[in-house]
Amino acid sequence: MKILVTGGAGFIGSAVVRMALERGDEIINVDKLTYAANLDNLKGWTERSGYAFEQADICDSAAIARIFSEHQPDAVMHLAAESHVDRSIDGPDAFIQTNLVGTFQMLQAARGYFDTLSPERKDRFRFHHVSTDEVYGSLGEDGLFREDTPYAPNSPYSASKAGSDFLARAWSETYALPVVTSNCSNNYGPYQHPEKLIPVVILKALAGDKIPVYGKGENIRDWLFVDDHADALLLILKTAAFGETYNVGGLNERRNIDLVRTICQLMDEIHPRPTPHEDLISFVADRPGHDQRYAIDASKIERELSWKPSVTVEEGMRRTVAWYLDNEWWWQAIRQQGFEGQRLGLASKEQEHDG
Ligand code: NAD
Ligand code: DAU
Repeated sequence: MKILVTGGAGFIGSAVVRMALERGDEIINVDKLTYAANLDNLKGWTERSGYAFEQADICDSAAIARIFSEHQPDAVMHLAAESHVDRSIDGPDAFIQTNLVGTFQMLQAARGYFDTLSPERKDRFRFHHVSTDEVYGSLGEDGLFREDTPYAPNSPYSASKAGSDFLARAWSETYALPVVTSNCSNNYGPYQHPEKLIPVVILKALAGDKIPVYGKGENIRDWLFVDDHADALLLILKTAAFGETYNVGGLNERRNIDLVRTICQLMDEIHPRPTPHEDLISFVADRPGHDQRYAIDASKIERELSWKPSVTVEEGMRRTVAWYLDNEWWWQAIRQQGFEGQRLGLASKEQEHDG
């Protein structure tokens, strides 16, 4: 299958590109190459036959229309987005542009292209809109996010993603564009930008710097190894019926503080220092509007598409810690471009030292 992937130089997009190429699909990677992109994520893959790259902004309607017309894809996997909650608090503009306007332009271009396809190709065409569990807001102690959970986004990021989900739904209902949507929990694994929790902890621990835990560390996330997500995304693209939505998650709920301690223990084992890495944990000012708990009910995708995560959180964390320790070249390059693990996402600078 010839798949147009947006955001294929990002964390999850590059995992999808690597897996799809490995399985024999063709890829057109459309990426603007923002700060979050890294073509090193595709080192060794871009020379493969069946891979094409187009540097383009998804908000640029003319560029996207040209890419559809020139490459004639069988399907779209739309992952390009501004993805970091803390950055959405500091500067929501790019989130509104890319996540809302960009998704609108992708849907419009896909619709124009879809109209040119033969009936057989129309039958097979899918626009897979990749979204997040954050659109559902925050859970209390009980319950899980299901596909029919009402939307209640709380951050500029999640609000922009929720809006993009509604656009995708509307293009499906109104224009019969064959859209499928998936909403996934927190991903982790190799090639994740060092702004996100897991690489923050590993790299701070490695440097012997304080490990910042927001608030009391009692917020809960549901962790999924990135390759398990990529596998689910390709399965949904190829087998889901037009109009369906699927929640994807690992049934791996952890309090942040427990996860951070687990990583510290792995670091003690793999990269010991004179005192335990846990001593570096520092409770810092909380994220404004911090969602308390996310947890996914993945029973629909398990039942209907026979998908299951293959990596336990213990195994995935061990592999991830080892990967960052073995691949300093990858994250040092990001450091040299100016990101050195500084605190992001405080609504006001005065909060920085509150703990
Ligand atoms: P990422 O930030 O690592 O990568 C995003 C990619 O999109 C980058 O390569 C960037 O250059 C590209 N991009 C951004 N703006 C663009 C634009 N205007 N035009 C073209 N390309 C642009 O993100 P990620 O963590 O890989 O997330 C990918 C998708 O999955 C996003 O839609 C995100 O909302 C969703 N998601 C992420 C997670 C997670 O835990 N990371 C979980 C659920 C859903
Ligand atoms: O749930 C899916 C979402 O997961 C995706 O849609 C987002 O794109 C992705 O970034 C992720 O969002 P989170 O905000 O949950 O991820 P992050 O890694 O930023 O934070 C995870 C938790 O850790 C969260 O409760 C905030 C906390 N945290 C984060 C950082 C960066 C800390 O305590 N310290 C930190 O330094």
